Amino acid sequence: MAETTFHSLIENLENYLEYQRDEGIQRLEVDRAVLAGLTQVSAVESVVVAAVPVPNHFQSVEEVAVQVSTCHNCPLGMSRTNTVPGEGNTNAPDILFVGEGPSAAEDAQGRPFVGETGRLLTKMIEAMGYRREDVFITHIVRCRLPNNRVPRPEEMEACLPYLRQQIRLIQPKIIVGFGASVIKGLLGKTAGITRLRGTWQAYEGIKLMPTFHPSYLIQDPSKKKEVWLDLQRVLKELGKELPTKK
Ligand code: URA
Repeated sequence: MAETTFHSLIENLENYLEYQRDEGIQRLEVDRAVLAGLTQVSAVESVVVAAVPVPNHFQSVEEVAVQVSTCHNCPLGMSRTNTVPGEGNTNAPDILFVGEGPSAAEDAQGRPFVGETGRLLTKMIEAMGYRREDVFITHIVRCRLPNNRVPRPEEMEACLPYLRQQIRLIQPKIIVGFGASVIKGLLGKTAGITRLRGTWQAYEGIKLMPTFHPSYLIQDPSKKKEVWLDLQRVLKELGKELPTKK
């Protein structure tokens, strides 16, 4: 069986089980043949996860993107259409925005934040007085997250070296981390985003502002106020005036 077909079967099974669990089903009968197949799956997945180590001395952000484009260090690599390495100003931008991971629109285009959530992020960036190309935009994982679920610890573990390398090369003045997974990945902090948002943190000496993820703002627009306060804190730290509304 081809790897992708095999993987999409597993993914469908996973989605089906998650759906059953959400419906309150706690037990399923599984026959021996299926169980044997699942044992084979974990063998295949562990081979995938034990993949090629990420070099830790890339010379440029372009080099990171090339390495990402062939990465299969976690199972997300098998279900993606395109990798989404990130884009924008790589020369000490004022701000690096880090999201959770690409969804369908980003997977189709290979570019970060280009769907509905991306349109909201673009508005936020413009409200701060920047253009998208003035800042750098990336994610904690670079391959599509099925059903827009949060990244799993092993997926973040596999992908984090790319983000760390990008930060080292880009040297942003401030990092804005969207959502709990980004904060957990970069800082190892497990406190909820509701507790951490609006409080200055630091990643390797670079100030980091945690805030709600733009996709959460689409579900609950009442949270936009808090995010705007956090972005104003970022502007103040950068010594920037709030732009006057056009
Ligand atoms: N969510 C993200 O984290 N990034 C995107 O690009 C879209 C949705």
